[in-house]
Amino acid sequence: MPAALLEVEDLSVAYGRISALDGVDLVVPDGSVVALLGPNGAGKSTLLKAVAGLVPPIAGRVVLAGESLEGVPAHCRADLGVCLIPEGRGIFPSLTVADNLDVALSSHDEGMRRVVDYFPVLGERRAQLAGTLSGGEQQMLALARAVGAQPRLLMADELSLGLAPLLVRTIAETLERVHEEESRTILLVEQYATLALRLADLVYILNRGRLVWAGEPDELRASKVLVESYLGG
Ligand SMILES: Nc1ncnc2c1ncn2[C@@H]1O[C@H](COP(=O)(O)OP(=O)(O)OP(=O)(O)O)[C@@H](O)[C@H]1O
Ligand SMILES: [Mg+2]
Repeated sequence: MPAALLEVEDLSVAYGRISALDGVDLVVPDGSVVALLGPNGAGKSTLLKAVAGLVPPIAGRVVLAGESLEGVPAHCRADLGVCLIPEGRGIFPSLTVADNLDVALSSHDEGMRRVVDYFPVLGERRAQLAGTLSGGEQQMLALARAVGAQPRLLMADELSLGLAPLLVRTIAETLERVHEEESRTILLVEQYATLALRLADLVYILNRGRLVWAGEPDELRASKVLVESYLGG
């Protein structure tokens, strides 16, 4: 087992009096793909936001490569290589595709080359306003920004949401490539498990703010009860 890049320890988050995460432990080994699954409202997005520093925990901690991130603000976590593609994409609709990429890329020329290599369609549409891209193209742009930033930990929240099956496959293939060619560590949140199970080395299931299961994709697929209870299968 490789060293842990990310350790989430006994993490609890509340919004006012409503508990969203309750004592969650989770490990993302360096170089792995980890899927975080679970029904609506389970706390998946909250967990990613807590790792990114966008919501404060009321208890527990987040550790990156052995260092606690307690008190480290979101922008500094981004500088440390923690990158979140949020639900709803997080792109700037009134900027062009090229400007959206510019804001995110660590090194312009190298970053652009990689982005165009992964996403030729974005190269063709550099001058177009991001808000006028199709939903699927916007999702690609969000992924391109993240890939171009060369993060240590790439977190993606429901990347496949609302996309046609062909595009979901393209996204899955891109993530696979990023993982294999660049050994990126990826933490994926998906409500629909197929894409995540295809990519993941390790799966965690959250339900109502608690971790209810952790294991390998094959074990999960083999468990009718788990699939029916938590994955709507
Ligand atoms: N800003 C907020 N204020 C109050 N409650 C919130 C807020 N954000 C999330 N919650 C609540 O916290 C719980 C967990 O929400 P979260 O968005 O993390 O779930 P999720 O697993 O990502 O769900 P989904 O699959 O629907 O995206 C839910 O009950 C939600 O209503
Ligand atoms: Mg969510």
